[in-house]
Amino acid sequence: MNTATIACPLIASVVSLSFAAAPTPDQRALDLLQRMTLEEKVGQLVQFSDGMATGPDRVKVDQTALLNKGGIGSLLNAVGAHKTNALQKIAVEKSRLGVPLLFGLDVIHGYRTTFPVPLGLSAAWDPSLIERTARVAAAEAAAGGIRWTFAPMVDIARDPRWGRIMEGSGEDPYLGSALAVAAVRGYQGGIGTANLAQPTSILACAKHFVAYGGAEGGRDYNTVDISERVLRDVYLPPFRAASDAGVVTFMSAFNALNGVPTSANHHTLTGILRNEWKFDGFVVSDWTSVAELIPHGIALDDRTAALKGFASGVDMDMQANLYAAELPGLVRAGKVSEQAVDASVRRILRAKFELGLFENPYVNADAEAAAMLKPEYIALAREAAEQSFVLLKNYAATGDAGGRPVLPLAANARIALIGPLADDAEEMLGGWSCQGKKEDVITLRASLAERFGSAVTYAQGTTITGGSREGFAAALDAAKNADFVIMALGESRHMSGEAASRTRLDLPGNQLDLLKEVDKLGKPIVLVAFSGRPLTLAWEAANIPAILMAWYPGLQAGPALTRVLTGEVSPSGKLTATMPRAVGQVPIYYNHLKTGRPVPGPDDVSKDQGYKFLSRYVDEDGSPLYPFGHGLTYTTFTYGPTKASTKEISVNALRNGATIEIESAVTNTGSRSGTEIAQLYIRQRGTSVARPVRELKGFEKFTLEPGQTRAVKFKLTAAELAFWNIDTQLAVEPCELTVWVAASSITGTPTKVMIHE
Ligand code: NOJ
Repeated sequence: MNTATIACPLIASVVSLSFAAAPTPDQRALDLLQRMTLEEKVGQLVQFSDGMATGPDRVKVDQTALLNKGGIGSLLNAVGAHKTNALQKIAVEKSRLGVPLLFGLDVIHGYRTTFPVPLGLSAAWDPSLIERTARVAAAEAAAGGIRWTFAPMVDIARDPRWGRIMEGSGEDPYLGSALAVAAVRGYQGGIGTANLAQPTSILACAKHFVAYGGAEGGRDYNTVDISERVLRDVYLPPFRAASDAGVVTFMSAFNALNGVPTSANHHTLTGILRNEWKFDGFVVSDWTSVAELIPHGIALDDRTAALKGFASGVDMDMQANLYAAELPGLVRAGKVSEQAVDASVRRILRAKFELGLFENPYVNADAEAAAMLKPEYIALAREAAEQSFVLLKNYAATGDAGGRPVLPLAANARIALIGPLADDAEEMLGGWSCQGKKEDVITLRASLAERFGSAVTYAQGTTITGGSREGFAAALDAAKNADFVIMALGESRHMSGEAASRTRLDLPGNQLDLLKEVDKLGKPIVLVAFSGRPLTLAWEAANIPAILMAWYPGLQAGPALTRVLTGEVSPSGKLTATMPRAVGQVPIYYNHLKTGRPVPGPDDVSKDQGYKFLSRYVDEDGSPLYPFGHGLTYTTFTYGPTKASTKEISVNALRNGATIEIESAVTNTGSRSGTEIAQLYIRQRGTSVARPVRELKGFEKFTLEPGQTRAVKFKLTAAELAFWNIDTQLAVEPCELTVWVAASSITGTPTKVMIHE
């Protein structure tokens, strides 16, 4: 049935009624839709990478010809005002209906002002920081005509072999949800779509839908097979939070989920996203993921791939050229209803109207340069980097600094700065650095030299992946003459991100050899580790007194590190992904189930240590090297006992809005001011399905002066206590609830609350 004929009278009445007032973006979309041919409609569902050939055969599509006839709705990777304006001119002035293009780009951790990589940013546990960095990224991108970013990546990652762990917020759904909402607010200018028309707002995109981070073996693009419960409890919440915050777009993923590729997964794309969550934005496929339904093996030809992708709920086809080639024919053959096409087109047009693209399709190229790298953006980049660092360890048992913390650096210290990441500006930008330029970066070497002058000696020592020991001698010389050694070691930025999975998680090349050689000199050392993932630093943790995870800090790497190393700013980040002792422990995550044979811990002495048949390794401790939530600063905090407002409560009371108030007193027991991130954890026992040993359900970041105490308060409601039960229903169940407020996922003094029928 031709829906246009059915829809038209309806549209006409809606439109004529309300056009006297200002028509809404949706009304304008409907009005435009009824004037479009089928080919023009399908054009809106087509996205290409600017000028790039497509498909396994590298077909060169004549994009200009398509633009002229309204055959492209969106382009990605067209960068800069001149470029986007020129392409926009064709769409607006040459095509019959003049529908403007929507330009998309991977603006992941900044556009020109490069912030820390997302895993680093997440370690700040600070939604407002995420929102502010996203806002800056949006303003810079929009100045160049980009009105859509493929961010935030809200994939939960429990496996650091997976290189894309760098692009997300780590392993926890609660924190991941809070940070997802913050990013959406930042890019889109607030909750929902009300501020999209501001010239500094861009569409956000929750990706990759869904469970992409669960790749078997940590190998990118790989199969994911998980239960519906794990999907809903662990992988979906950040997507749900983004949807509820009004994110306008979703991106379907590359992976198969329980046998069904996620770019043809009706259950997730339509059943959950559209029907359960009422998402009314649009879904773009990941890059050629609709065409990849063929190698996945669920389509034998392009036509079937296009049909399956579209019918499952993918509105826009990124780069595969399958919707352009196949959808009109599928509609004419009656395999796809034009009504379904209309629904997808309407969503995309509505977004274009919401962005104000019809009124302002072009950007002012003369204003573009001045919109970048504003002083306040650079200041924010420094603040973000400072907050992203995680101090894993800061205590020397032996040597010159024996028995005391080695950081912060003494003002008059003679410093040896050693390592391949001490002075590599490009590496500091991290993966997905967008328009970030190495010229904008200040390295650790440059900023330490500025601060300490000739008291700093630098030696590269080795390269990131190299095997030559040629540079070791100079490094050892530098270390011999110093009071303190800073080792800037780690991965190359290209070792994490897309298609960058690793089987080893150690320092690459011969960096560990270099570190061991320097360590033999007995000088106090701080290891500043750069990486896009948790690394296995077991030897380092046992031997090096201070370790600071720096991730990839962005363009203010040097100043931020210098300020933290010298104590001008205290470190305050906490891990958002578990650091394993050994790769063989992976996947390792803090919110795991307990098993029937747990290794005895402080709260479980049912089996003695000598008992063999326990869930453990014979050659390695089962615990993490550094747990989720861990991070030190230059002062110390103590936590008082956790107090709950009640000892018991009913399921019904909780359903009707009752809350359990939780409180703990946190005191700064050290001699410096410091910032702490207090974390609320729960455990539920006696439930219909086994629940994790601990789950994060709240966090608060605050600064305390020496001796100062703060009562940290949280509320537990049905929302935090509900989980997907044995009937795959989201419900609160009667249980024994254990609650505690702590400095990390392995500390805290619990209290119990009985939840009864
Ligand atoms: C593929 C990546 O998986 C996705 O994250 C990205 O947004 C697209 N390419 C576009 O560059």
